[in-house]
Amino acid sequence: MPLSDQLQTALTRRRQLSFFRTLTLPRPNTADFSSNDFLSLSTNAELRTEFLSELQFAGDFPLGSGGSRLLDGNTPYTESLESRIATFLGAPCGLLFNSGFDANSGFFSCIPQPGDAVVYDELIHASVHEGMRLSRAAEKVKFLHNDVEDLCRVLQRVKQPGRNIFVAVEGLYSMDGDTAPLRKIVEAVENICQGTGHVVVDEAHSTGCFGPNGRGLTVSLGLEKRVFARLHTFGKSLASNGAIILCDPLVREYLINYARTLIFTTALGFPALASVKAAFAMLERGDTVPLQEKLHDNITCLHDGLKSLPSSGRLSILNPKQRDTPIVALLTDKPRDLAKWLQDGGYMVRPIVHPTVPKGKERVRVCLHSGNTISEIRGLVSRILTWVDVELRTEQVSEQSIFKSKL
Ligand SMILES: Cc1ncc(COP(=O)(O)O)c(C=O)c1O
Repeated sequence: MPLSDQLQTALTRRRQLSFFRTLTLPRPNTADFSSNDFLSLSTNAELRTEFLSELQFAGDFPLGSGGSRLLDGNTPYTESLESRIATFLGAPCGLLFNSGFDANSGFFSCIPQPGDAVVYDELIHASVHEGMRLSRAAEKVKFLHNDVEDLCRVLQRVKQPGRNIFVAVEGLYSMDGDTAPLRKIVEAVENICQGTGHVVVDEAHSTGCFGPNGRGLTVSLGLEKRVFARLHTFGKSLASNGAIILCDPLVREYLINYARTLIFTTALGFPALASVKAAFAMLERGDTVPLQEKLHDNITCLHDGLKSLPSSGRLSILNPKQRDTPIVALLTDKPRDLAKWLQDGGYMVRPIVHPTVPKGKERVRVCLHSGNTISEIRGLVSRILTWVDVELRTEQVSEQSIFKSKL
């Protein structure tokens, strides 16, 4: 079969299974309840000014990095930004990557040694899977999402003399909107692995949202010295691009020598670094603290509004007790209908369907931002409630007509 037919067949099959992906443009005049711009920094005037004034240095700095960091792409600006971020986040050192995807895949592909094991939360991001796929670890074993008992069972099973065990978790899970029970995870790994366990925390979604000045979940729990490495990404709350792995100097040196996603790629250029620097300058000064507080007020406002959600099979909150994160998953068997209804009403949300989430766990994901207004949130809640109401009434009518037809 010619290649074009093979590609077309695969795409047609995807379409039939409703897995087909397309690129869409932002819908105009909709309130953002979808993006990862949790602190609304992408439209923040102060950040824009800070970034533009940082760019004034452009006369002194070449715009492009000109190569990999191992060749011509490294500058004193890059190094000083890297160590400034590491210091701010309470780590001995850090290593910048072009994206969180590169950082995770580079890290997990090279740090676990032959014979080691990687134990990962079943909801871990695709970039960790990518790294594990390339890794020399002998075993890659998942544990049930956020289930410390299951983690302990898996750790007991994979533990072997001389084997390192890496435990991969996220601070805040992007699809379920819940945080990792990080303290319990760290304690379990310390107790069971006795020095051979290494917790790696992906703070992609928690950066900016949690901890003092947005330093993330690990710092908020005071666990920075008890985890092996942390990933912070700059593309979500920080309205920029790129990522940093926080680790000790030995791990940094190893990554520089073996992480192919660092070695064989052009390093971040000056404009990208300048925007990261501007965002961290705001975090350091505490300028984002009011935004973080507003975000948490908005989260409370959404949960308060959703209290009046009738208990029915039509719609429920996935993690109703987790009332402090900006991601709220609304479980429904009609995610596309609900998302369209909300989008048509001016509220940008996304349906999340199988295979991104398991069958039966389809949902509409609501992401809150510090820039959302109370009236937007109330409007969103009211439209959700109307949808549920209409759905319940339609259900009753069809039940009545089935009942009548049986008489
Ligand atoms: C948990 C998690 N880790 C890593 C990444 C990758 O980060 P980046 O967007 O910087 O490539 C993402 C992005 O979606 C993510 O959600």
